[in-house]
Amino acid sequence: MEIVTLEHVNKEFGKLKVVEDFSLEIMDGEFISLIGPSGCGKTTVLRLIAGLDSPSSGRIIYNDGESRIGFVFQEPALFPWRSVKKNIEFPLEIRGIKDGRDGISRRYIDLVGLNGFENAYPHQLSGGMKHRASLARALAAEPRALLMDEPFAALDALLREQMQDELARIWEKEKKTIVFVTHSVEEALYLSDRIVLLTKRPSRIKRILKNPEPRNRDSMAAIELKKEIMVELRREMDVRN
Ligand SMILES: Nc1ncnc2c1ncn2[C@@H]1O[C@H](COP(=O)(O)OP(=O)(O)OP(=O)(O)O)[C@@H](O)[C@H]1O
Ligand SMILES: [Mg+2]
Repeated sequence: MEIVTLEHVNKEFGKLKVVEDFSLEIMDGEFISLIGPSGCGKTTVLRLIAGLDSPSSGRIIYNDGESRIGFVFQEPALFPWRSVKKNIEFPLEIRGIKDGRDGISRRYIDLVGLNGFENAYPHQLSGGMKHRASLARALAAEPRALLMDEPFAALDALLREQMQDELARIWEKEKKTIVFVTHSVEEALYLSDRIVLLTKRPSRIKRILKNPEPRNRDSMAAIELKKEIMVELRREMDVRN
């Protein structure tokens, strides 16, 4: 079952065409990645899905009539004056949830492995821990889908791999729909069931690739798929096009 459907979505900012005839069905529980040249319109697509911005034409349909969608940004946007626990409880406060707030935040603190740091403030956390906290906060809102915009781009290689493993583990456990934007072909291949290749601006869907072996670092299929994707991306980035 699809949970969000984009139908012929176009987005222009003044004269600048950023998204063109974008049609995509996002399935319940799938991990789907968007990959495309820098500046092609990936963040814009996520913002449209999140309802933070509206299409110039075309439409976005939410299967259950509501668009409760979480957003995880490249930089973990934690409130510096709130502890980890209070940050994670923030979306619950917004929704007026009082009963069980403590239980929910504990569950997500546990899920992202931040036990013992509930009362720490963001400045007392490492980079990886901040990312975990911001992921826990997004999950605590219990969104229908989670949108992640290059969430690990600022991390060093080892930490990045560790966060990818964490996210894969959390996804296996929660089976939450995730729409993930990344510049890294390896990252997309490791995490996603499907990969949507975008053209340079304006963003159109060039191809949708199904990943036969997601979340397996030793996948042979991923090696072949990577080659294919790189050929397509290089073609998109060729200035002569
Ligand atoms: N609110 C806005 N007003 C005007 N132009 C915008 C706005 N938001 C984005 N743009 C333009 O739309 C284009 C696509 O931007 P977007 O941030 O979606 O690209 P991106 O693929 O996420 O880029 P990157 O790979 O650098 O993250 C850019 O040319 C940008 O200048
Ligand atoms: Mg972006």
